Amino acid sequence: MTEIFLVGATGSLGSRIAAGLLREKARVRALVRPQSSGSEQVRALVGQGLDIVEGTLADPTEQLAQAMAGAEVVVSAVQGDADVIVQGQANLLRAAEKAGVPRLIPSDFAIDLFRLDDGDNVFLDHRRAAHEAFAGTHVAVTSVLNGAFVEVMTAPFLEIVDWEAGTFGYWGDGEQPCDFTTIADTAAYTVAVALDPGSAGRPIRVAGDVLSMKEFHAALERGTGRRLRLHRHGSVDDLAAEIERRRATASHPAQYVALQYTWGMVSGKGKLDPLDNDRYPAVRPVSVTEFARRIAF
Ligand SMILES: NC(=O)c1ccc[n+]([C@@H]2O[C@H](COP(=O)([O-])OP(=O)(O)OC[C@H]3O[C@@H](n4cnc5c(N)ncnc54)[C@H](OP(=O)(O)O)[C@@H]3O)[C@@H](O)[C@H]2O)c1
Repeated sequence: MTEIFLVGATGSLGSRIAAGLLREKARVRALVRPQSSGSEQVRALVGQGLDIVEGTLADPTEQLAQAMAGAEVVVSAVQGDADVIVQGQANLLRAAEKAGVPRLIPSDFAIDLFRLDDGDNVFLDHRRAAHEAFAGTHVAVTSVLNGAFVEVMTAPFLEIVDWEAGTFGYWGDGEQPCDFTTIADTAAYTVAVALDPGSAGRPIRVAGDVLSMKEFHAALERGTGRRLRLHRHGSVDDLAAEIERRRATASHPAQYVALQYTWGMVSGKGKLDPLDNDRYPAVRPVSVTEFARRIAF
């Protein structure tokens, strides 16, 4: 029975990874922050067989190493700023080294962050900085890269779909292929990667669907049966200028980072290529059309 140490089990992605691993009969021990350990969600996962240990990524390395002793893989699905993504995950890696855990899946789950440059996306800069902090380790680090969560791409935060106004706005020429994967399918791929020792030490790139923005628009219309008036905001360079405008006055990166994700997609710079979907044929991801059909917007 594969033993997994999971961090972020109370999150949107991590909770699905926990449930998926337990369905595959893995033994899963999750590091859960004390303030989150009493939640209904944690109780439900414990009912499915999850073991929990209270703590945070800021705990002493030795304590984290003891918590993960015996695990074959550490999976991180945390979210946060540099203190969590860089310092916290570097501490997790050092603990894995001490505990002799051979593999780590860090919390990347994005467009191809390895093809981006510093400054292109503040949150993905943190993830590359974490990889720099991992350098020289004997722990095999495997990134799971999934493009964009479909749930996020259809949320107001991304400023693409306005369900109330019935509009769909895009940047660029609308023809650049982009990678889309639902949260559930990203979790399913992560489970498959965690249980696949052959994935050790290299990025795994997967996508539930590959669509241009114009095709994304058509898929949402087809799936929901709703008409979304198409609107072009401007070119990829116009988008870069808009990001700079917002960055100049922002009090927090959250005020412009959504546009940075969009830029990474519509510029083609963060495109996943080649895809490793065929390595995991048991995962049958849903298309954007199917996703839209299932969700009532
Ligand atoms: N590709 C995409 O479109 C896309 C979109 C969204 C997210 N993502 C990525 O998916 C990953 C997971 O995101 P999510 O949306 O599932 O995040 P989330 O729902 O916010 O969950 C974050 C998890 O991290 C835990 N956590 C935070 N700080 C911690 C610490 N110091 N020590 C231990 N645990 C800590 C949280 O615990 P508590 O419950 O105690 O707070 C929670 O379980 C991230 O890498 C994120 O960037 C990708």
